[in-house]
Amino acid sequence: MSNSTMAEFTAPGLSSDDAKKTVQVLEQRLVALLDLQLTLKHIHWNVVGPNFIGVHEMLDPQVDAVRAMTDTIAERVATLGGVPKGTPKAIVDGRSWDDYNIGKGMVTDHLVALDAVYNGVNGDHRKAIETLSEIDAVSEDMITGQLAELEQFQWFVRAHIESASGSLKNDK
Ligand SMILES: [Fe+2]
Repeated sequence: MSNSTMAEFTAPGLSSDDAKKTVQVLEQRLVALLDLQLTLKHIHWNVVGPNFIGVHEMLDPQVDAVRAMTDTIAERVATLGGVPKGTPKAIVDGRSWDDYNIGKGMVTDHLVALDAVYNGVNGDHRKAIETLSEIDAVSEDMITGQLAELEQFQWFVRAHIESASGSLKNDK
């Protein structure tokens, strides 16, 4: 039988209670970024219209970077004695949001929807930093570094749906 509970060891100097809380936060960030990297590829495949090639090619480096982030988080979970879950079912069971719902779609429609996806992911990454700041500075630093990159990716997305006066096209 496989074991999905915490190991009896964690990082030296970290209490087992704080390790458990840290793992819970990181598991949520892992689900979010596994979902994001799949969604980014889905958009890469299904976007159409003017600026197709720019948007299509903008997304692959985001996929690669987010995939690397999932590896870093998962290995941190294991380091702390947790069991990182990377199966499709774990993603679906662990997420609180609906599946991305545009198939083939125009550049603007996809990027407005992707901006909303980044609102969720990046907002939750920021909340995670706040929680982690109380319990594990190493994980806090890791998630902080990721957020700088994720916020830059959201800026790339927003630059396509922004007006010169600085307003964004909205989801609703
Ligand atoms: Fe491709």
